[in-house]
Amino acid sequence: MWTVTLSRKRTNSYLSFTILVMSNTHTWWKEGIVYQIYPRSFNDTTGNGIGDLRGIIERLDYIASLGIDIIWLNPIYDSPNDDNGYDIRDYRTIMQEFGTMEDFDELLAGMKSRNLRLVMDLVVNHCSDEHEWFKESRSSRDNRYRDYFHWWPAEKGTPPKRWSYFDIEENAWQYDKNTDAYYLHYFAVKQPDLKWENPKVRQEIYEMMHFWFKKGVDGFRMDVIPFISKDTSYPEIDATAPHEFIAYYANGPKVHEYLNELNQEVISKYDAFTVGEGPGIHIDQALDFVHEDRKEMDMFFHFDLMSLDRKPGEVFTMREDRWKLSEFKKVFNDWDSAFAKAGWGSLFLANHDFPRAVSRWGNDSPEHWKNSATLLHTFLLTMRGTPYFYQGDEIGMTNVRFTDINDYRDINTINRYEYVKNNKGDLKTFMDNEQHAARENARTPMHWDTSENAGFTSGEPWIGINPNYAENINVSGQEKEEHSILSYFKKIVALRKNHKALVYGTYTCFHPDHERIYAYSRAYHDQHFLILLNFSDTIETYCLPPDINYNRKVKLLSNQKILDDKTYKEFMLAPWQSIIYKLE
Ligand code: GLC
Repeated sequence: MWTVTLSRKRTNSYLSFTILVMSNTHTWWKEGIVYQIYPRSFNDTTGNGIGDLRGIIERLDYIASLGIDIIWLNPIYDSPNDDNGYDIRDYRTIMQEFGTMEDFDELLAGMKSRNLRLVMDLVVNHCSDEHEWFKESRSSRDNRYRDYFHWWPAEKGTPPKRWSYFDIEENAWQYDKNTDAYYLHYFAVKQPDLKWENPKVRQEIYEMMHFWFKKGVDGFRMDVIPFISKDTSYPEIDATAPHEFIAYYANGPKVHEYLNELNQEVISKYDAFTVGEGPGIHIDQALDFVHEDRKEMDMFFHFDLMSLDRKPGEVFTMREDRWKLSEFKKVFNDWDSAFAKAGWGSLFLANHDFPRAVSRWGNDSPEHWKNSATLLHTFLLTMRGTPYFYQGDEIGMTNVRFTDINDYRDINTINRYEYVKNNKGDLKTFMDNEQHAARENARTPMHWDTSENAGFTSGEPWIGINPNYAENINVSGQEKEEHSILSYFKKIVALRKNHKALVYGTYTCFHPDHERIYAYSRAYHDQHFLILLNFSDTIETYCLPPDINYNRKVKLLSNQKILDDKTYKEFMLAPWQSIIYKLE
């Protein structure tokens, strides 16, 4: 029996359990494991070098074999692809390169028959300038769609400064000659922001969401959702440090009103869940968005981890020193406590906007690649919250580290390169930074096998393929190997699914300041788990805190042979070793 300073800890766990029952109901989306697919880079069946829906259909058995429950698809709607589908031209049509609506229906049916749920990307802060609404809107000042977007008439002078993510001049107001006015675009110039302040816009969005729900989708990942509400008097903002604008964008006056309305009008009518992308949401505001009583969203992706290795206030520039494990733990400790009593967290180490998890949080050198990748899987799957994996994580795909600007396709890298060039900045420093920070580190095609183009396409891939697919970073090789990252991933997924404690149990971090070992427990009813992770390249000895007592420990899973755990409190861990014990 686990007798952690008996009276105190027991009282704690009893208390937290009571609260759990009151506010943290059990649901499929808390217990589910999400697998994110970037369709463009997943599997091409037509030979045009671009992944497609039939490619996903072809791989459904593989996806199901992972043991995951939910698929999140990056945008598949009709789009001119200025920002790879995040610029939507028609919300109810499938992007031509990806296939047809019939393909989509078949994909969904194929998922349902394998008990897989589908989460779509909802991109409604902005659309494409090629969307009918915008074409109408820009055609005249009295067009009935004029007020679907944010316009600033030129006779009022230059609009107050707003920063744009992808604009070559970082300017979010674009002058449009036709009606002598500026329109607002927080992202690229081809991504005009929709005006949520107009109730007609909101109704159009809700109807579109019903359209997809009626087809049978199970939820939405909501792109940059805190940005939807704007102060339409467009005040001057105090933004001496330019990148502070993110917090400003995320705190629009009506963001909660809109999210609540969206929930009432759409989400609440289905057995669905929403996960918001949450740039700019401060931890103190977390429950305002996801407290069950507020009926807004179910969870969101915070950005505290994603900014850990970046310069303060900078989104895309790496900091000079390496991130510290104590800082990493602090992010997870703080966010776990934020949702301890209400709400629910999402757990992720990578996605299509950030570099590869193993290259960023592990060590992708040949010596440590496999162990650090499996350690990271152990971590995510033993924490409280819903875990999200990005395609290729399950085989430990690594950063591609392009060296030439012509290798890049991403508007983000290309336009910032132009910005640096135009402002006589240091292009070498910029290119070096992109090797670690660029989004396209994550977007190179999936590695299926060792055939040409990693089995992704028979044609010319839309973006370079990481040549290391030939070195056993591929699905078919790892499927055959008993101790591959892929085999381990399946085991740890199964372990989480067999132990509700790993989903709902309370989390306690030991030694938050330790810079090499991350040790914590998960406790739920009478089940106790101890997780030990060595986040370093060296052998480490770790001693449990004095108030932890147990009678017996049972090893459930380790990514390497145990070096020494014979003593009661002391453990010896190999570099990047992860061990899960059940304590009795
Ligand atoms: C989100 C998406 C990103 C996209 C941006 C603009 O951050 O994840 O890929 O570029 O929104 O839609």
